[in-house]
Amino acid sequence: MQDLKVLSPEEIKGLDEPRISPSQQQTDYSKKIYLESYGCQMNFADSEVVTSILMDQGYSTTSNIQEADTILLNTCAIRENAEQKIRHRLQSFKPLKAKNPHLTVGILGCMAERLKTKLLEEEKIVDLVAGPDAYRDLPRLLEEIEDGNKAVNVFLSREETYGNIEPVRLHTNGVTALVSIMRGCNNMCSFCVVPYTRGRERSRDLHSILKECSNLFDSGYREVTLLGQNVDSYHWQNPDTKETINFAQLLEKVAQLTPELRVRFSTSHPKDITDEVLHTMAAYDNICKNIHLPAQSGNNRILELMNRTYTREWYLERIKAIKRILGESCGISHDLIAGFCSETEEEHQDTLILLEEVKYDFGYMFSYSERPGTPAEKKLADDVPEEIKKRRLQEIIDLQRIHSAYRNQLMLGSIQRVLVEGDSKKSAAHHFGRTDNNKVVVFPKKEEMKGKFVDVKITHCTSGTLLGELIN
Ligand code: SAH
Ligand code: SF4
Ligand code: F3S
Repeated sequence: MQDLKVLSPEEIKGLDEPRISPSQQQTDYSKKIYLESYGCQMNFADSEVVTSILMDQGYSTTSNIQEADTILLNTCAIRENAEQKIRHRLQSFKPLKAKNPHLTVGILGCMAERLKTKLLEEEKIVDLVAGPDAYRDLPRLLEEIEDGNKAVNVFLSREETYGNIEPVRLHTNGVTALVSIMRGCNNMCSFCVVPYTRGRERSRDLHSILKECSNLFDSGYREVTLLGQNVDSYHWQNPDTKETINFAQLLEKVAQLTPELRVRFSTSHPKDITDEVLHTMAAYDNICKNIHLPAQSGNNRILELMNRTYTREWYLERIKAIKRILGESCGISHDLIAGFCSETEEEHQDTLILLEEVKYDFGYMFSYSERPGTPAEKKLADDVPEEIKKRRLQEIIDLQRIHSAYRNQLMLGSIQRVLVEGDSKKSAAHHFGRTDNNKVVVFPKKEEMKGKFVDVKITHCTSGTLLGELIN
């Protein structure tokens, strides 16, 4: 099975390959860690926490796997092929381990949490298994391995948010950064493994979020993306005053830090996104007008089987509210799953009609992958044949590509405020950046403008990228 996504060239570059942590200037402590990250933005943010914890203990990082004493893979379990990729990667470490029997191989993240000690049995090369809430324990786990043992910690916490840990920025462009605002998920979408791999939902201390964002701004960053599986259910209570803060209030406080810091967030859940959040977005120029609102399906029977707890009508009403409060130009993207249990051809058509109705800017599209232990695996038959899933997925992708091109064409001739993220991947004579509504723009470079806000007139486009020229 193949999962396909429609991505801009920049995003393809970013997502296709695992990200490898770069070398950092270090203490000359001899133990070197090589870390690869897979999966969602939250995993990438976690890798920055992991690096911080290990560097605090005197470990250094390397981007050269050959010189590593420890290889860590921060893994994803969302679909079967995500796990297959890791198992193949582990095979490729065999020659390294043969050369250096002291080499430690560790699995972190969601696959570690899902498989627990089974991973040690199934993949003999693995020495360490640490789940997403066990990263503070990594130094101890690594010591345990030095004594010749295997080490496992897959304890899920109800409190851990790593709130007081200053992440070490990896793969950074120095302009945009990820900031985790909550962990876990309390929803029970029947297809999804996340509640089991990341545990109960908990929100991070408001003050630690604000401090991290303002430190980022002081170090030259100009955009933060606030991350959670369901940001709309952010809920933090001040232990002293008992005052509670919801997501709209958090968003406002981050936006108020400085108008020069752009704020994005992901992911919103259609059942929880409120008008209050939309009005807060409208009130601040520096809150980017872009919403990722996963639909998963356009059919009510399937949505119910998925336990998404909203209907197609509810979802479309939320889309209307977005357009009403934030305007037609607000970027809207989706996640969709093709071929969920018992999905008929007609029900699949409902998803295509939903796409037609909304005309999204962008989407992440997947074919259903049954995950062990989830409600869908226990109660529903994964009965849509692979070829049909694949064909339905392709139909969704093809239609999305048309809509992405259409939405980009609407921007031709407009002048867009762009935050410059760096050189275009294809040419050092071009800069690339993003518009407020999250579209990648490439334009000829006049001078070094990384980290600056510039006005760009949009002159050409493809379904993935806008091309333009600087306006003085
Ligand atoms: N918290 C987010 C999404 C988390 S997972 C939300 O609620 O929308 C990211 C996406 O992976 C999901 O939106 C879904 O489209 C997809 N996904 C999750 N489990 C899947 C599965 N078993 N098979 C295929 N796609 C899946
Ligand atoms: Fe998974 Fe649903 Fe939670 Fe998203 S909201 S992480 S899809 S259970
Ligand atoms: Fe994957 Fe875990 Fe994220 S399963 S999508 S890395 S929360």
